[in-house]
This record gives sequence, C-alpha cells and structure tokens, in this order.
Amino acid sequence: MTTNSAPNPKLVRTAHLKEFKDAGHKFACLTSYDHLTAGIFDEAGIEVILVGDSAANNSLGYTSTLPITVDELVIFGRAVASAAKRALVVVDMPFGSYETGPADALKNAIHIMKATGAAAVKLEGGQRSVPQIRAIVEAGIPVMAHIGFTPQSVNGLGGFKVQGRGDNAAELLSDALAVQEAGAFAVVIEMAPTAISQKISEELQIPTIGIGAGSKTDGQILVWTDFAGLNGSTVPKFVKLYANFKDELLAAAKEYRNEVASGVFPSKDHSFEN
Ligand code: KIV
Repeated sequence: MTTNSAPNPKLVRTAHLKEFKDAGHKFACLTSYDHLTAGIFDEAGIEVILVGDSAANNSLGYTSTLPITVDELVIFGRAVASAAKRALVVVDMPFGSYETGPADALKNAIHIMKATGAAAVKLEGGQRSVPQIRAIVEAGIPVMAHIGFTPQSVNGLGGFKVQGRGDNAAELLSDALAVQEAGAFAVVIEMAPTAISQKISEELQIPTIGIGAGSKTDGQILVWTDFAGLNGSTVPKFVKLYANFKDELLAAAKEYRNEVASGVFPSKDHSFEN
C-alpha cells in the first residue's frame, strides 16, 4: 500500500527509490523477461522491473545463470523496456560481462543501455565490484548492486547458502557500504538474516531491496515465475506463491487437448460459417 506521504511518480526514476525509502514506502520489484508480463506488472504499479539473468533458468532452460550472454539478455531487456510505461526497468549484467575489469564493464553496460532502452543496469558483488560500479556510474549509467548470495558465484560460494551469518555479518555490511560509496543507487540483498539486512538498511542512505532477506529492507524483489507458481511449488523458502499458474495452465492445456480430440473445439462460435 502506498503511504499518504509517499511520492507517486508518473515515471519511476532511480531517485524515487530513495524518496520511497525516506518516506517509509516499501516498494515492490519483480523480474520479467517478456513484453506481456512486463506490461501487466507495470499496470499493477510494481515500481521496479528487473530483467534478471534468472532468465537463464526460467526462459532459456539453462541450469544456472552462468551461461546467459549479453546478447540474450538484450533481447529480453528490449521486450520488457518497451512495455513499461511507469516502472523503472533494470537489466542484469550477465556473468563474464564485467568481472574482467572496469573497461569491459563500461563497454557492456553502454551496449545494454543503448540496445534495450532500460534505465539502469545491475551487477553482482560488493567490494570486489567497486571499480566496475564506479566506472559505469561515472559514465552516467545508474547501477543497482547485488550482495549477499550472488547466484553468478554459486560455485565459489559452495552452493545456495544464506550469507552474512554470525561473523560474516560485518563483511556483508562492508560490501553494502562499499557499493554505496562507489555510487550504486540501490542494493539487492539476497539470502541474508533479517537482523543484518535491517542493520544495512538503517545504515545505508540508498535503498535496500531484499530477496530472502526478511521484512526490514526498503523494497522487496521476487522472480516472477516463482511468485506466480509457474515453477509449481518447488520454490525457495523465501518465496510466497501469489498464484498457481502451473496448475492453471496444465488444466487449460489438458482441457483444450480433450476438446480438440472430441471435436468440441472449435464450435460454431469459433468458426467462420461463411
Ligand atoms: O536475476 C535475478 O532474478 C535476480 C534477482 C534474484 C534479484 O538477480
């Protein structure tokens, strides 16, 4: 729900996320990889639409986010950006497009911005990604950072593990402060305990966006295929199922097949009689 004093911009820009934070308005973000769902989420008032590299698993059938390329993400990015009338559209920088240094990061960020029409890019990593964030921001491109569990580093992190627990909480806070200092306009915190996510959200000037990071971040993000139940009920603990698309689509496809087989479809209503 939008609080009374919360800004309600016609077009959500990066600066509005900070205004939402300051006004105590918790904003909602979803991923999208196509024109139709992006248009629906935009109409629903979702403030940020992320063209996540999770398109790798959810649209392309890859087993992780590592294989997806800049060229593949650009196609998804263009489809989403052209559908959003109000939401801030952010495109992920895929694995391999920024780790080799600030110059490569900037070149790829410029390409993504030119080719998609998005308003910002997102990249993973805290202190290690500071030079890349700085280079991209200095060129006038807004950067959303991503810390905690960073899926592109799943192999280095030893699997899908909650980050920032116990003694590692200080490291997570240092990552958050580093990306803010480098110029990021917001930071995603993935799979971290509520207490450290709250502390980061209180210490940072820029907004925090949680996924599996509890209720105290300034905004929340979910992968759309998870929240809508398109992946069935095999979703991480932090996902709430807001719909059950898999069951609905399955039922619809079965009914259609049966009606075609039995001759019920198409009826006269769905035919040109002359
Ligand atoms: O690619 C993605 O979907 C993401 C979200 C999990 C934040 O990065």
